[in-house]
Amino acid sequence: MEAAVEQAQLRSGEQDDIRDVIAADTDQLTKRLRAHRLELFPPTASKTIRRFSAAEAAKLIGVNDGYLRQISQEGRAGDPEVSNTGRRFYSLDDMNAIRAYLDTNMRSKRRYVPHRIGSEHLQVISVMNFKGGSGKTTTSTHLAQYLAFRGYRVLAVDLDPQASLSAMFGQQPEFDVGPNETIYGAIRYDEERRALSDIIRPTYVSGLDLVPGNLELMEFEHETPKALTGRGAEDLMFFARLSSAFESVADRYDIIVIDCPPQLGFLTLSAICAATSVLLTVHPQMLDVMSMNQFLIMMRELLDVVARAGGNTKHDWLRYLVTRYEPGDGPQTQMVGFMRSMFGQRVLTHPMVKSTAIADAGITKQTLYEVDRQQFTRSTYDRAIEALDMVNSEIEVLVQRAWGRV
Ligand SMILES: Nc1ncnc2c1ncn2[C@@H]1O[C@H](COP(=O)(O)OP(=O)(O)OP(=O)(O)O)[C@@H](O)[C@H]1O
Ligand SMILES: [Mg+2]
Repeated sequence: MEAAVEQAQLRSGEQDDIRDVIAADTDQLTKRLRAHRLELFPPTASKTIRRFSAAEAAKLIGVNDGYLRQISQEGRAGDPEVSNTGRRFYSLDDMNAIRAYLDTNMRSKRRYVPHRIGSEHLQVISVMNFKGGSGKTTTSTHLAQYLAFRGYRVLAVDLDPQASLSAMFGQQPEFDVGPNETIYGAIRYDEERRALSDIIRPTYVSGLDLVPGNLELMEFEHETPKALTGRGAEDLMFFARLSSAFESVADRYDIIVIDCPPQLGFLTLSAICAATSVLLTVHPQMLDVMSMNQFLIMMRELLDVVARAGGNTKHDWLRYLVTRYEPGDGPQTQMVGFMRSMFGQRVLTHPMVKSTAIADAGITKQTLYEVDRQQFTRSTYDRAIEALDMVNSEIEVLVQRAWGRV
């Protein structure tokens, strides 16, 4: 301790090489984090999604409670856990088994397994904004999980070198993600490029796979300018590389959700070009909205360049999602009104409200679907889940509309 204090003190006339200071500090920090992480972040193996109550399962599958009870009691599909008091709790695998059963055995026009068919195109939703902390990662993680609960085949892609999405999925970027194990591996310019299918990893959620991130993603920001000048004719332009990687695995998924970094670099631009839809998260405060305006102006200019070079700028939808909203806060409510008056229906009807349940779950890198409900006041937890479900189902409708289903 004394030594550290001594080292930190300024010595007159002497300068430290900042590299040594950083090396010493990161060495310490890495060690501490490694020791700490087992306590703080549950490793993947122990991360789980809770089981769903009968009412929740019926809603997620899209049948009524009575019918679900009948299927369960007759043991026709799924194997719910039954509590002492006779309440049934369904795992995601149970729900998927019931969906498959309904599609095979019921002569109904409706399909319960919602995988895309025919000409329905892969949906790629890019969650983005300039502003740090606008709720991109929270939104993408909960959206990806929700869509998997609804029975879709989902791929979550971490495009942020800070890799918060990966951490939410139990993958610590410094320890669990090695070289060439991020999406960079599939979009890099040199001969070390590899197939995206080799990079994708399963998660503890059935139907939800992950492409984790770490600092390696920064390479794409550094390498792209070089590639732009020295590019061979056969090389794909930077903005086409991500979509090309997605095409290679398209038949395995219905929806890809991309968590973007809080900057407008080549990674984010690639995400816009690979996207079929863009979700801009915005906290309704003046500084955040001003920053978003800068983001949009810059994005427009860059997309003009990309479009001239043949990049994709056509999308199914672009929506603004109001995040961390406090309905009791006058200025925030005014700001939401201001946004709605300008952007109309492009602002999602349902905002994501600020909730201590989300913030607290985030501290231990868990989603609201992973934490124990008993940890919170019931009303706090239920209000947050309700808000999340409203937001996520509104996005699901947009996806279905893009497929022409609704
Ligand atoms: N609805 C909410 N209620 C309470 N806290 C929230 C909510 N949404 C996000 N947060 C908290 O706000 C912080 C920032 O959220 P998040 O990491 O999702 O933002 P981000 O846009 O991904 O940030 P970055 O730009 O750094 O990637 C996190 O600590 C998260 O737990
Ligand atoms: Mg983030």
